[in-house]
Amino acid sequence: MIIKMEPLNLIKDAIKAQSNSQSKYSNYPVGCALLCHDDNIVYGCNIESAVYPSTLCAERVAIYSALSQGFKNFKAIAIVSKTGAKPCGSCRQIIYEYLGDIPIYISDSSGQKYTTHTISELLPYPFDL
Ligand code: THU
Repeated sequence: MIIKMEPLNLIKDAIKAQSNSQSKYSNYPVGCALLCHDDNIVYGCNIESAVYPSTLCAERVAIYSALSQGFKNFKAIAIVSKTGAKPCGSCRQIIYEYLGDIPIYISDSSGQKYTTHTISELLPYPFDL
């Protein structure tokens, strides 16, 4: 199980999730793998709709799925896309609120090159009530 904690393994899982992406409108598949505290991995991919605002990002699909299954603590998240894009603003806010200060691995679809970030770096001024 320890092996799952390696960034490259989690990125491989995100690449698997990316292959399930429903992204016929943007042709921009995104995959996400969220490593839970007990080493379970929850997957997410972007799901697009003909009603464009109903689209949901891969990160939030994974995070909402994990939370709805009862997972509360997380060790790391990997996000994969064609260009290795950083998460959008809404996803950054949700990462801030629910994942806390865990490593965020971001890679292009090759999985060969990745960068590691924290949410305080990606979202220095989050919204708090
Ligand atoms: N997308 C994500 O899955 N995550 C992000 O952080 C930004 C964008 C998706 C939404 C849409 O399906 C596609 O990428 C193009 O915007």
